[in-house]
Amino acid sequence: MLGLCVRPGSATFRVRPSSLSPRHALARSASTALHFYQNRQLELYASKDAQRLTLRQLVFFGRSITEERLIKSANYIRTELPVRIAHRLRDMQTLPYVVVNQEGVATVYEAYWTAFDKFRRYPEIKSLVENESFCNFVRGLLDEHKAVIPNLSLGLSLASPYLEPDRLDSFMHRMLVSRISRRVLAEHHIALSKYFSARQRGDRMPEDRVGVIHLRLPVRDSIEKCARFLRKRPYDADQDQIEGASADAPWPEVIIEGHLDVKFSYIPAHLEYVVFELLKNSLRATRLKHTSLRQLPPIRATVVSGENEVTIRVSDQGGGLLTPEIKNPVDLFSFSHLRNPARMDVSRLRALRTISSSQTGMVATVEEQVKRWESDADSEDPQQEAGVSPHPRIGIGLPMSNIFATYFGGSLELVSLDGYGTDAYLRLPRLGTNLEGIELW
Ligand code: COI
Repeated sequence: MLGLCVRPGSATFRVRPSSLSPRHALARSASTALHFYQNRQLELYASKDAQRLTLRQLVFFGRSITEERLIKSANYIRTELPVRIAHRLRDMQTLPYVVVNQEGVATVYEAYWTAFDKFRRYPEIKSLVENESFCNFVRGLLDEHKAVIPNLSLGLSLASPYLEPDRLDSFMHRMLVSRISRRVLAEHHIALSKYFSARQRGDRMPEDRVGVIHLRLPVRDSIEKCARFLRKRPYDADQDQIEGASADAPWPEVIIEGHLDVKFSYIPAHLEYVVFELLKNSLRATRLKHTSLRQLPPIRATVVSGENEVTIRVSDQGGGLLTPEIKNPVDLFSFSHLRNPARMDVSRLRALRTISSSQTGMVATVEEQVKRWESDADSEDPQQEAGVSPHPRIGIGLPMSNIFATYFGGSLELVSLDGYGTDAYLRLPRLGTNLEGIELW
């Protein structure tokens, strides 16, 4: 409740003075003073620059973790996260009122205010016991914020007519990349803490992990894992409205080729999110394009190990990306309905609304996605009851993949070979020396 009151249009501003009793007037002026004070706190944090890190720094710091380092890491999270949240709250405050007040955006604003205030007040961490409570506190916030992306996506889609596309997309980019950064730092610290206590108990821990980072991530295994899960999934022919398409017709094969032994330091959840999304799109496009064939043309995932980067090209024969609505593949990353008219589809908005209001939010990893599908298969699905497919296409996967790819300085490029297929190029830096791609402010 705190946050909304600092914005115009909040309860404080809406009360007409003539209707105030003296007691209410007193309460109102106290609350205005309080909100003024809180906004001053926000300004204070928002005026600091983010202390950005590289993947390599995260590895080096966490590699030989000691009690002292763990506590230092906890206090870095405690002081850094409110700065990053404050930047985004300020960013939201500069949006037109009609946008911030939109369903979904207002929810996120509120959630960020609460998190900002809690972090700001959290006392310094001085011991391992205090760090354990801190990790529980952070875990709680991570769970509470699960529905942030569908909420933002819903809100910005609804607000799209009021924001010029470049402004909308750059705002969304800052929001999403900052969110990834905060979650990485938080999850990394929690993972380091778990690792440290397991080691203290004398448990053997994997040598190739530091927090959320895999030091020798085998790219081929990640692609195979995504392909295996995706190809096990039944085809949702109803959603594609293909007459006569059967759910148990085979998926196309996924052929992995190129430098098959490549291993590099990266966050597995990020790599797999993107690969999963690209393969999912390729499998579906191939199936849609070749409805009469029993043997579908394969999808090729080519891995190339360069000096500075690892590239994965996913090629399909699914017909390409351009449609009468999508004139340029990069518009698929856009949240503006002027670039990507699907943003305003009623069924998509309905699906986003359902996901935003369910406490489950968005899945973050391949494992979570698969668990969700498995439970969809054997339970009464509330989404289905609400008239939404269990695998709704809400258009978040590609923009999020783009954000994941660019977070540590990589890229995602979609090339449409119109009428034939699509080549997607995912390039990820292998040296880990790029700073996080978030704004300093
Ligand atoms: C987010 O998920 O958006 C966060 O900011 C998480 C953080 C509060 C731990």
